[in-house]
Amino acid sequence: MPASSTSAWLAAVPEDVADTMPDDNPVEVRRRKVAAMGWAGFVVDRELQTASYGRPRARLCAVSVTTAATTTRRRRSEHPLTRRDWSELPTAVRAAIEDQCGTVTRAVLPDAGRNSDVSATLHTGGGHVLFCKGVRLDTPRARMHRHEAQVNSYLPLAVAPRLLWQVEVDRWLLLGFEHVPGRHADLSPGSPDLPQVAATVRVLGDALTPCPLDVPRLAEQWARLAAWRRLAHDPAAEPTAWLRDRLGEFIDRERRTFQALDGDTLAHTDLHPLNVLVADRARVVDWAWSRRAAPWVDPAFLVLRLIEAGHTPEAAEHWTAATFPAWRTVTDETRTDFAVAVLGAWHHMFRVDPGPQRAPLVAVARRWVAHRLGETVNTAPLVSGIW
Ligand SMILES: Nc1ncnc2c1ncn2[C@@H]1O[C@H](COP(=O)(O)OP(=O)(O)O)[C@@H](O)[C@H]1O
Ligand SMILES: [Mg+2]
Repeated sequence: MPASSTSAWLAAVPEDVADTMPDDNPVEVRRRKVAAMGWAGFVVDRELQTASYGRPRARLCAVSVTTAATTTRRRRSEHPLTRRDWSELPTAVRAAIEDQCGTVTRAVLPDAGRNSDVSATLHTGGGHVLFCKGVRLDTPRARMHRHEAQVNSYLPLAVAPRLLWQVEVDRWLLLGFEHVPGRHADLSPGSPDLPQVAATVRVLGDALTPCPLDVPRLAEQWARLAAWRRLAHDPAAEPTAWLRDRLGEFIDRERRTFQALDGDTLAHTDLHPLNVLVADRARVVDWAWSRRAAPWVDPAFLVLRLIEAGHTPEAAEHWTAATFPAWRTVTDETRTDFAVAVLGAWHHMFRVDPGPQRAPLVAVARRWVAHRLGETVNTAPLVSGIW
């Protein structure tokens, strides 16, 4: 890998890691990259510290552009990575949004979401309500927002919000969506939301198979991540005896999953309750992580979210099998392989970015794996070592 450009550096870092880099903290970025790539990362990073910090020219798509992002130098943000209120947005950005939707009279921040620099429900003088989210173009997350904009016109509008406009201004990318009514889905046992979520995920599976556009394959992304292989070679990880005995098996299972989860459905891949809004029906937002994958992949992720919401792994699988024909076609072996692969991926992400939301997720995946392997769950608290 040439060590002379940031783009090569970012390309070598797994996409999901690159996408969540904090752009306001170069030291932390370096720490995460090195953690993600092991010694190879460390060596390249040392070289890059003395190399020039170039980045590819921002790609412009067919959007209304007020001021194009034309800089070829990487600019570190002057602003911290906290979500901004409408009033804190640069004047040019607010003006560009109002060019699209009319004068904004009220902006209400959502109580969830962490991948945008700004997001808000906007009420306009003309009586319209819309949802707007945006990122600065000098962050790797801009790629996720571009992707979300790209897939939007292929989504079934009954269960996903329509993208009304996108605009680039002053090194920002802003997306304006149809406002979706409702509250976040409750996936707990006995919740009345479950049938609605089931119906929506079925509609999505039918409408998005075959995959209606050319998007990256989840299989490829996971193969690049190869989380268990990375964890096995992580000199800082301290696997317990239980895991040491299984590392080889888990690496094999993960490798088999890369093939099994390939398919021809546009899968959301991030169906957690904060991305599902329930009113008269369930609607799914936030398609930033959508990938081409097997039709059972979204139901499989739902198993994890059901466990997270309080179902036993057995009940979660039972509900999913009763609800999604695609999940019924998945063999026991492939289910176990998938659970193991998710545990590896989520654990890897926890090690790279130990945010407060990550440890509980690892625990959820761990419970599913233990159930699949017929073993007792290790309930020891998750620390920086493997477990
Ligand atoms: N079209 C929409 N209408 C109403 N609320 C929305 C819409 N899209 C997202 N939201 C709300 O905003 C939150 C964050 O939006 P999301 O697209 O998930 O952004 P992020 O990428 O930051 O997670 C969601 O959890 C949801 O509560
Ligand atoms: Mg979200």
